[in-house]
Amino acid sequence: MIKAVRGVRDILPSEAWRWQRVEAAARQVFEAYGYAEIRVPLFERTELFARGIGDETDIVKKEMYTFEDRGGDSLTLRPEATAGVLRAYIEHGFHVEPKPVRLYTMGPMFRYERPQAGRYRQFHQVNVEALGETHPALDAEIIAMLMDFFAALGLAGRLELHVNSIGDVGTRPAYIARLVDYFAPIQSELCGECQARLTRNPLRILDCKIPGCQPLIDKAPSILDSLSPEAAEHFEAVRRCLDAMGVEYAIDPRLVRGLDYYVRTTFEVLTQDLGAQNAVAGGGRYDGLIQQLGGPADPGIGFAMGLERAVLLLGSEGEGRELLALLIPVGEAGLARLLPVARALRQRGLPVEIGYGARRLQRELERANRLGARYAVIAGDAELAAGEAIIRDLKSRDQRAVPLEALEVEMARLAQVENGR
Ligand code: HAM
Repeated sequence: MIKAVRGVRDILPSEAWRWQRVEAAARQVFEAYGYAEIRVPLFERTELFARGIGDETDIVKKEMYTFEDRGGDSLTLRPEATAGVLRAYIEHGFHVEPKPVRLYTMGPMFRYERPQAGRYRQFHQVNVEALGETHPALDAEIIAMLMDFFAALGLAGRLELHVNSIGDVGTRPAYIARLVDYFAPIQSELCGECQARLTRNPLRILDCKIPGCQPLIDKAPSILDSLSPEAAEHFEAVRRCLDAMGVEYAIDPRLVRGLDYYVRTTFEVLTQDLGAQNAVAGGGRYDGLIQQLGGPADPGIGFAMGLERAVLLLGSEGEGRELLALLIPVGEAGLARLLPVARALRQRGLPVEIGYGARRLQRELERANRLGARYAVIAGDAELAAGEAIIRDLKSRDQRAVPLEALEVEMARLAQVENGR
């Protein structure tokens, strides 16, 4: 038997409805905020990600699915969506459109990470970018939108929003120097990974989850004390706007994110409910990145939400697939009468299933229960002779006869009653 590749999963019908719920909530909330969908390719030139995400990041160094195609080009399965969306923004000259240009996309991403619950090698993101505007109100607005999306799914109470500013590219080296000054003398007390980060990417030490490093990180100089006056003012304005909208958040000076392109505002939405994989969404501002990718000097901000993690949080609560009725003809004549009724109900958008008249009634009733049908509609020889069908309520077990001509309208009425509950 050939099995799915490690770290890659099937999304089975029993959970796909939950994915659809998350995706539908995203579309509804984002479109109300003026975002339009863009769909970008699953693979791009390797160079795009190396330049965009940063050569020293874990993603580019260790996690990319990179391959040479038959033409000899180095291509990479996208590990995130931002680089591809910005490439498209540049390529199609979106910068002439009214700013900010608001785009969202969703789909699979690929990272060669160690798989565990909530962490996969093919995973899915809902991704949002707002391009061409530096105003701090946009930062606050996009964060508020993310929280509205979680609220629409009923998840807001289980999530915590963390925000930070990591300053400008110009002032960051000074902060990194302070960080190195602080950690260098206590280097041997850090975990092996952090010791390597000290020379490679010191900022990432702040993100370490190893318990032994925590007390040392807690006492490290805060990036918020090293912001330029402009970056500090920007962050204050973001917070004022968040406060004005009543968005609750915690300021987290350790929130540095795993991708190199961020400046100023960064944010993450965290949960206590998914073990080690506590980040459900993350993002930030990336002024300068569009230019770095060969485009105009347009700023930008965005975030991505992990669909697997949102779906895990939703758990198994709520209803699965809804089935209004199983129509059960007994024999050929019944089938001929019920097939058009099934079609008419389906054309009305009402989910019904039909038996084909070959199984015994008892077997079909068992099937109705397994399918979770609300009603069974039975048309055997006796009913047909009387020009009727029987509607059985599978919850109360009450049943009654209805004239065949009235069946479609009566089922539609029952569906409405059901929806009104
Ligand atoms: P990221 O923090 O790398 O940001 O990923 C965003 C979210 O994707 C994470 O918070 C997590 O929920 C989910 N995620 C990441 N890796 C995995 C994985 N291996 N398995 C399951 N879920 C995962 C970005 O990707 C940025 N492009 C976000 C962004 C957009 N920043 C600006 N615009």
